[in-house]
Amino acid sequence: MDTAAYLDTSLSTADRVADLIARMTLPEKVGQMMQLSAPTGVRAIIENFHVGSILHTSPENVIAARELVEATRLQIPLLIGEDCIHGHSFWDGAEIFPTQLGLAATWDRDLVQRVARATAVEASATGIHWTFSPVLCITRDLRWGRVSETFGEDPHLIGELASAMVAGYQGDGLGDPTAVLATAKHFAAYSETQGGRDASEADVSRRKLRSWFLPPFERVAREGCRTFMLGYQSIDGTPITVNDWLLNDVLRGEWGYTGTLITDWDNVGNLVREQRMFPDYAQAAAAAVNAGNDMIMTTPAFFQGAQDAVAQGLLEEARIDEAVARILTLKFDLGLFEDPRMPDAERIDRDVARAEHRELGLEASRRSLVLLENDGLLPLGTGGDAPARSIAVVGPNAHDAQTQLGDWAGSSGQADWLAHGQPRDMILTVVDGLREQIPEGWTVTYERGASIVESGPDPDGEFFADGQPRPRVAHSAPVDQAELDAAVEAARAADVAVAVLGDRIELIGEGRSTATLELQGGQVVLLDALVETGTPVILVVLASKPHVLPPSAERASAVIWAANPGMHGGQAVAELLLGAIEPSGRLPLSWPRHAGQQPVFYNQIDAQHGTRYADLTQRPRWVFGEGRSYTTVEYGDLRLLPPGDEPVVRAQVTLTNTGERAALETVQVYVRDEVTSATWADRELKGHRQVTLEPGQSREVEVAVHLAACSIVNAAGERVIEPGDFTLLVGPSSRVEDLLTTRFRIGEGE
Ligand code: NOJ
Repeated sequence: MDTAAYLDTSLSTADRVADLIARMTLPEKVGQMMQLSAPTGVRAIIENFHVGSILHTSPENVIAARELVEATRLQIPLLIGEDCIHGHSFWDGAEIFPTQLGLAATWDRDLVQRVARATAVEASATGIHWTFSPVLCITRDLRWGRVSETFGEDPHLIGELASAMVAGYQGDGLGDPTAVLATAKHFAAYSETQGGRDASEADVSRRKLRSWFLPPFERVAREGCRTFMLGYQSIDGTPITVNDWLLNDVLRGEWGYTGTLITDWDNVGNLVREQRMFPDYAQAAAAAVNAGNDMIMTTPAFFQGAQDAVAQGLLEEARIDEAVARILTLKFDLGLFEDPRMPDAERIDRDVARAEHRELGLEASRRSLVLLENDGLLPLGTGGDAPARSIAVVGPNAHDAQTQLGDWAGSSGQADWLAHGQPRDMILTVVDGLREQIPEGWTVTYERGASIVESGPDPDGEFFADGQPRPRVAHSAPVDQAELDAAVEAARAADVAVAVLGDRIELIGEGRSTATLELQGGQVVLLDALVETGTPVILVVLASKPHVLPPSAERASAVIWAANPGMHGGQAVAELLLGAIEPSGRLPLSWPRHAGQQPVFYNQIDAQHGTRYADLTQRPRWVFGEGRSYTTVEYGDLRLLPPGDEPVVRAQVTLTNTGERAALETVQVYVRDEVTSATWADRELKGHRQVTLEPGQSREVEVAVHLAACSIVNAAGERVIEPGDFTLLVGPSSRVEDLLTTRFRIGEGE
């Protein structure tokens, strides 16, 4: 028997795709567009729906699914998708890195790329072909539950790091057996929430989209990110799932994107149920396919709906063919017809959490920490001349291994096969880290001191309208006097108290936005009591996102932010406290003083009536780009360099390490357009460089900004460079007082 053309590897992908589609029935094509989860096994979804992809499934199911596929007529391999968000999140014993927000605090493109590469190596060994990462949403309202999944608040930094992450996942191209498909999500402006509430309507104009929300997506689209996931929300009345302008005019049209679009979870169902745009699934399916969606995530009713839509003349089969072609292209490019890339026991053994990945995890943990305040108490010392000390570690996040990992890891709730979380012995908490790292003769004691949340009945009632029981919900935990007293006693008896406070999974994630940003439960009472003891307090905010700290935090000797810092986070914090490493993280987003200040991102259009509310400043507590070292670095002598042939502004700045410890300094480069035809941000990040400085060392650092980056979006929604005067601002944070400035001009036609 002749081999079917689609199995002939000497043919082009396009020819193989065309041959295979010609052999497929309509139900097989519709099934090919479907991705379903398989909580109760895979037989039904393969035999009844002919699914093209499965997600959130155990390795046993991946193997069972392959056997079932082999028994089908065309034996089209499955795409196996998983949320490998900061490491191979739900693989028992995989390396879990800091969250995306924690990685963003490193401001290090190369490090982020290496983390993504390691994740791809681990995930691909276990039979995963597709990760739903990275998130390119811009953090706006910090009460949003998904802030920790983002790279922060700045479109330029997001673009840089997302580009690095995509490159890391996709490796040397899909032919590389360690490559996984990257997903740019959630397209677009999903994070422009109302009141921080998840998946609310995004009130955002096309001009605003083009100004800030779309540029990071455009970058990875042009760089070859193979898949995009569409957000849940609607913009100006149109759900993203059917936003023809965004999907066709902009993404596929202007940017020339040829990749695959996947909906978010049941977006097509939501068109019927929640968004009530269509009365039935035939109409919803037709609209979604006509708008260009290729893979429909977890909407079983799409199967019949799409077929009905064809029968009713609402949808041409040719549109289905286009979507199927894009999906099959991924499968051919990954080589799945030749090698379905099944879980590989030998590679799992060798690659999952292998030594280099554990080292990289530690490096990422160290680099993710941001030192926000230090009155000179830190570093505590690493022995030698440092006097022996007793350290009291207190707080609910000091010794809670799974909480340290944050969302999308182990027991965070998305995978039912890992309820116990990642292996405890792979995770070092702050208590573990200090116990391991303290010099001879020092002591560490630990008291929890407070809880963050407790679960209780839903105040809306015990049952839903349909009689189903309502799950218990999280409430702020009450103060436990005995726990509090024990912690205060421990602090009193010690030379230094380290308070590790923050949030936990019940307050983080999809559908779990918060109304406030304060530390919950008994934590504020605990911190208040600790600073009253007179023992110096170091506050470690081990939290998924910025919080509003209480006044007692101003009395702490030092403040560190550890944004869910990964499996080695506790070791990294201990090393930082003792001074075994240098602090180098910088804030990828601003910290507020009060939840009512939302939003606080640095590149807003300035208010015209000053910088104060009647009752509070509008200024954030800490700004984008901020972060301290254990030394001081002076910036001086910013000067423009003579123009070369390239359309690039170059400048040089002199950095001097004026202290006694080495620094890894992040030199930030902002641009202000002095006069703009439409209101615009005062300054925007356009580049950064990281340089090391030994104590006393001076270095000339060259920075460059491409003229194309000096653009704004005008009132007509076009991105343009407006000739005239610009200011280049260079320094260690986005705060205007921290930046040296020099002027440059862009002439007509330059
Ligand atoms: C819904 C989330 O919004 C998305 O980020 C995730 O990738 C999918 N579920 C799959 O788990």
